[in-house]
Amino acid sequence: MIKDKFTKAGFILAAAGSAVGLGNVWKFPYITGDNGGGVFVLVYLLTIVLVGISVFIAESYMGYKTGQNSVSAFETLAVNNKKGWKIAGFTFVTALAILSFYVIVIGWILQYIVISLTSLPSSVAEAEQVFMTLLTKDLSSQVFYFLVSFAIIAYTVSRGVKEGIEKMNKVLMPTLILILLGMLFYSMSFDSFSKAFSFMFYPNFEKFHAESILVAVGHAFFTLSIGMAVILTYSSSMDSDTNIVKSSVIVAVLDTVIALMAGLVIFTILFNAGFESSQGAGLVFITLPALFYEFGAVGNILAVSFFIALAFAGITSAISILEPGVRYVEETTTISRVKATYIITAILIVAGLISLLSNIEGYSEALKFGSKSLFDWFDYISSAILLPVGGIITAIFVGFFADQNILKQTMCKFISEKVYGVWLFSIRFIVPFGVGLVMIEKLGLIKF
Ligand code: PHE
Repeated sequence: MIKDKFTKAGFILAAAGSAVGLGNVWKFPYITGDNGGGVFVLVYLLTIVLVGISVFIAESYMGYKTGQNSVSAFETLAVNNKKGWKIAGFTFVTALAILSFYVIVIGWILQYIVISLTSLPSSVAEAEQVFMTLLTKDLSSQVFYFLVSFAIIAYTVSRGVKEGIEKMNKVLMPTLILILLGMLFYSMSFDSFSKAFSFMFYPNFEKFHAESILVAVGHAFFTLSIGMAVILTYSSSMDSDTNIVKSSVIVAVLDTVIALMAGLVIFTILFNAGFESSQGAGLVFITLPALFYEFGAVGNILAVSFFIALAFAGITSAISILEPGVRYVEETTTISRVKATYIITAILIVAGLISLLSNIEGYSEALKFGSKSLFDWFDYISSAILLPVGGIITAIFVGFFADQNILKQTMCKFISEKVYGVWLFSIRFIVPFGVGLVMIEKLGLIKF
């Protein structure tokens, strides 16, 4: 049987599709706004370069070298204690936990495409009401759009790497980029564009707190899809003559450029209406729809385009989050890819429905544990704990516990020995210490 693989361009598109997600278009602009702009962007960019790309390459190496699912990849590459290292391959469970709530948000976005077509809210107060009603009262349409989203994602994954994942990315990614480019050019015609530009690119140290560093580091992991076997798994299906360093850098650059574009568009619209940068997590679902309303019919077109771009970004990421679990079941049991996809999806739908219910009035009390709803716990545990741990484990594994001669030989096909030395230093020391610090802080064990 010929192995189901990406083409060279298909791999880059799919990996970029994974990286470019809700993290870029929803989360990045609002955390940039909340953390004061320029300095935050600078720290974020440095983190991508110093930590993010290194881990991305390490994950890519594991997939490239083994061509296997994440669990088998750890087992194959470990020099000693193969059984123990296998456990590290199960980070895809983190991915699946993230997926159940990620798809809930995609469901909201689909619903917002409809809202943008028909009835944009005319003020921020009204927009807030629309969103809160959706979130806390409207169970049936949330469930409906949640299921529609999952159906698209599961169907794509069930069709396989080339026929499903690559094809879907080939349509959605270019469309997403075109929409954002169009919106960027449009926003350049506003006076507030230059204010948005300086907000994002001129560091204002007064508004910056040490804690923002930690937010930036955490986000760099999330946005590059690293730390949960997603990039590893995609890389295991790449064409054997793909240059893993070059493709990693291209994906990181694309991911970053798209986040910056989304930020520029959104801040131009915000500043044009005289709003402050810090709108919190409600920026995309509450503030923006009300501002689009101000533009009249053009506003509807802008809003629909924006939410379509956001939906596409989310769907291509969600597909990549489902793939590692499916690949694991497919390769280690006799269950077929199609069956594996639907079994895992069914389990995630149950988990997702529970976290969805946790926001609904009347159920939310029963589903609240401590200070957070189940939905928030999923988010918190995965991005504050599991992702960084996954990233550190991968970096340490490749840097110390995989065969170092083979590693060097393979990597030096792509980079010079000098650059190899820098990369190795990064995954051996910068990643574990730097990211470890972030985690400890986030868990509240130390305070800056
Ligand atoms: N990178 C995606 C985003 O920015 C999210 C994601 C995280 C996807 C982890 C896959 C794995 O939204």
